[in-house]
Amino acid sequence: CSSDLQGALAGLGQPSGIESRPMTPVNVFELEAIARERLSLEAWDYYAGGAHDEVTLRGNRAAYDRLSLAYRVLVDVSRRELATTVLGQPVALPILVAPTAFHRLATPEGERATARAAGAAGTVMILSTLSTTPLEEVVAAASGPVWFQLYVYRDRKATEGLVRRAEAAGCRALVLTVDAPLLGRRERDVRNRFRLPPGLAVANLLPDGYGDLPPAAADSGLAAYVASFLDPALTWRDVAWLQSITTLPVLVKGIVRPDDALRAAEAGAAGVVVSNHGGRQLDTSPATLDVLPEIADALEARGHRIEVLMDGGVRRGTDVLKAIALGARAVLVGRPILWGLAADGEAGAVLALRLLRDELDLAMALAGAPTLADVTRDLVRRGP
Ligand code: FNR
Ligand code: LAC
Repeated sequence: CSSDLQGALAGLGQPSGIESRPMTPVNVFELEAIARERLSLEAWDYYAGGAHDEVTLRGNRAAYDRLSLAYRVLVDVSRRELATTVLGQPVALPILVAPTAFHRLATPEGERATARAAGAAGTVMILSTLSTTPLEEVVAAASGPVWFQLYVYRDRKATEGLVRRAEAAGCRALVLTVDAPLLGRRERDVRNRFRLPPGLAVANLLPDGYGDLPPAAADSGLAAYVASFLDPALTWRDVAWLQSITTLPVLVKGIVRPDDALRAAEAGAAGVVVSNHGGRQLDTSPATLDVLPEIADALEARGHRIEVLMDGGVRRGTDVLKAIALGARAVLVGRPILWGLAADGEAGAVLALRLLRDELDLAMALAGAPTLADVTRDLVRRGP
């Protein structure tokens, strides 16, 4: 970790007059504190914020703390195995990089830095449609697998063009986000009249004329962009449409109900991502950890063997352990990667992933679960 980053951390919250020792962040919350110092208010609010009262944003986190871990003892945990597969692709850890927009707000290298960090950690990067770097350049910079997150535009030709480009570039899966027919009202962005700074654009859509956020928007430029260009009429028929135009596996992201997970499976999806968009869409929607077991159970009861991923508020190795115990094959992390990028570019994103990996490794050892197959539901109990 760079001395730059150590210097920033040393300066945080140090009472004056006390000698400040260089430190390396010991958890992702400390990376977040550095990111906050480094980002403009507008970028910080965009990354950190949620919809309306941010009840779901907080709820995603609170759900982990409501569960306790009933660890097993006297299990040989001298070797732990964190590697697994997602959609058949090997990963070194059950933690993937969630699709998040606009990485060049955090670091000049933007999504390229993220792709290199994910590859260094041995995991998948899910690249957002709303990347500030063209997808071809991100995949070219990547040292590991990249999946492409798809937003469906009203302009289906442009949408199909994105799919073709993702295929041609070598993306290995499509992640169709279905919880954003309109953008949730993020009041911080409304207040800031969120815009992209000069020089940044929705790079993937520049050739189609959808590269810029509407400059004349009254409040959030991103909300106006979504309302103008993304298709709010999307239905289950479009999941079939997408599969008809691609051979890539399709995951459906943004599911919080068992019946919707079953429909995704029946529609032929390769998996679902249990997600409420990090609390950024419908406020007071349930915490993802709370709905995960009922979704996993419903799929299993109907004999659907599709993969269940989840995201929302994963900040500790024990969070990952709980999600896996409750039925997730792997989790996605959104903001921790952004905090790493803002704190120290690629190295910061690598650090975020390493901190989470090491915490998961320790949690598995202390829980008596040396492999992910040992992370079973009986480890988790409701209540403190
Ligand atoms: C997102 N998310 C998101 N999802 C998506 O499908 N496409 C996108 O472009 C974005 N953009 C985006 C930007 C920012 C700043 C954030 C914080 C989130 C949602 C993301 O994939 C994921 O669901 C959440 O971030 C998970 O929650 P945590 O880990 O951030 O708590
Ligand atoms: C967001 C979108 C773009 O959450 O997915 O900001």
